[in-house]
Amino acid sequence: MPGGRSRGPAAGDGRLRLARLALLLLGWVSSPALTPSAASSTSPAPSPASAASAPPPPPGRCPPPCECSEAARTVKCVNRNLTEVPAELPPYVRNLFLTGAQLAVLPAAAFARRPPLAELAALNLSGSRLEEVRAGAFEHLPSLRQLDLSHNPLARLSPFAFSGSNASVSAPSPLLELMLNHIVPPAKELQNRSFEGIVATALRAGHALRGLRRLELASNHLLYLPRDLLAHLPGLRHLDLRDNSLVSLTHVSFRNLTHLESLHLEDNALKVLHNGTLAELQGLPHVRVFLDNNPWVCDCHMVDMVAWLKETEVVQGKARLTCAFPEKMRNRVLLELNSSDLDCDPILPPSLQTSYVFLGIVLALIGAIFLLVLYLNRKGIKKWMHNIRDACRDHMEGYHYRYEINADPRLTNLSSNSDV
Ligand SMILES: *[C@@H]1O[C@H](CO)[C@@H](O)[C@H](O)[C@H]1NC(C)=O
Ligand SMILES: *[C@@H]1O[C@H](CO)[C@@H](O)[C@H](O)[C@H]1NC(C)=O
Ligand SMILES: *[C@@H]1O[C@H](CO)[C@@H](O)[C@H](O)[C@H]1NC(C)=O
Ligand SMILES: *[C@@H]1O[C@H](CO)[C@@H](O)[C@H](O)[C@H]1NC(C)=O
Ligand SMILES: *[C@@H]1O[C@H](CO)[C@@H](O)[C@H](O)[C@H]1NC(C)=O
Ligand SMILES: *[C@@H]1O[C@H](CO)[C@@H](O)[C@H](O)[C@H]1NC(C)=O
Ligand SMILES: *[C@@H]1O[C@H](CO)[C@@H](O)[C@H](O)[C@H]1NC(C)=O
Repeated sequence: MPGGRSRGPAAGDGRLRLARLALLLLGWVSSPALTPSAASSTSPAPSPASAASAPPPPPGRCPPPCECSEAARTVKCVNRNLTEVPAELPPYVRNLFLTGAQLAVLPAAAFARRPPLAELAALNLSGSRLEEVRAGAFEHLPSLRQLDLSHNPLARLSPFAFSGSNASVSAPSPLLELMLNHIVPPAKELQNRSFEGIVATALRAGHALRGLRRLELASNHLLYLPRDLLAHLPGLRHLDLRDNSLVSLTHVSFRNLTHLESLHLEDNALKVLHNGTLAELQGLPHVRVFLDNNPWVCDCHMVDMVAWLKETEVVQGKARLTCAFPEKMRNRVLLELNSSDLDCDPILPPSLQTSYVFLGIVLALIGAIFLLVLYLNRKGIKKWMHNIRDACRDHMEGYHYRYEINADPRLTNLSSNSDV
């Protein structure tokens, strides 16, 4: 089948060229009567736009700005600033590089040609300034195995980008490898939508990607993995989530990824892996997990993970994992920790610590000011104290005096006499 296909268009090519020559000689280029015969001699129907302006180019011509190699079955349009996918692509193409272009939008059926690009297996659209991929953009590519959309700011990724524009018919996609590294658009392009949600919707639409074996989602600022994302990708062998901002895997289930061979989680924001995750990873028969450069928090919640690390063969380079928090544990190697090191004494989180320090400083300041006021006012205070003392003394003297009078019988008499 592939041999016949590669020969067919070449023969058609020759016939078309002859037909064109004849047309030119006879001056019948403008005659509409001849177009159908030309079209019938070659299977492809020319697109209306090109038919209107000039005679249709031979099908499967190498597009002018590109480099084509029939021997290598490769077409390269690299850094050519193309603004759209070339209308003509040689039908033998198996590897198509459309990188460094300025495509902006990939419309539905962007690669549908007549005859179809039945051999196209690897399509690289990396770094082509794509902002929108519409529903069914990769339809009619029956052999597409590898698609690289990395380094495009995909603000509008249709839920049906990978599954065909007819949502009710979820034909499985032939894709085996999908690279979506660094496709997160600037935040203002996303408005309030969650990028995690957009990507997950496109990956699970219609279960079309159930045959996918490699998924790369590195460098996308992902904060979480949508809960059911992996449930729709049961065939995954390789999952690359490097260089994101994942904080926790608690709500992610790996249980059904029984074919998983590599799981890259380097350079995320993971603090600890809990029992459930550890058990699921341990249950996968072939997996290797990469966990470097995460800010592990070495408190009592780390006990299970440390115990697991000491036992497991699943984690690659487990001796490189170190604590980032709390401060007293920084750079300690996880594997060398004992459970006695892992406590949760009420070490306040840094934010709270600083607020307590601040409160202490404020209180100390108030105290110091109070003392200062006292000191500056010491003369007044002394005077005041003296006054009080004097008042007391007067009072006491009066008291004593009266007491003495009352105690002295003579004086009592005297006073009683005088009273009389
Ligand atoms: C593509 O555009 C860039 C900048 O706009 C320019 O430097 C480069 O020469 C262009 N390349 C081609 C092949 O036109
Ligand atoms: C796609 O092209 C880019 C840029 O040339 C390259 O870095 C990347 O490795 C290619 N992707 C694949 C899957 O080969
Ligand atoms: C989707 O496919 C179904 C079944 O093949 C068909 O009836 C329907 O018209 C299609 N819808 C669109 C929008 O093409
Ligand atoms: C985003 O959210 C704000 C408030 O939450 C709302 O006022 C605004 O309309 C939303 N924007 C969009 C594009 O949904
Ligand atoms: C795992 O697969 C089983 C059977 O295929 C299914 O019932 C279950 O819901 C799946 N679990 C998850 C978390 O996807
Ligand atoms: C985690 O699992 C271990 C071993 O199965 C068990 O001893 C431990 O209590 C569990 N920890 C939690 C928090 O459930
Ligand atoms: C941890 O325990 C082992 C044996 O129980 C001991 O040899 C080692 O010194 C301990 N390490 C620390 C840091 O306490």
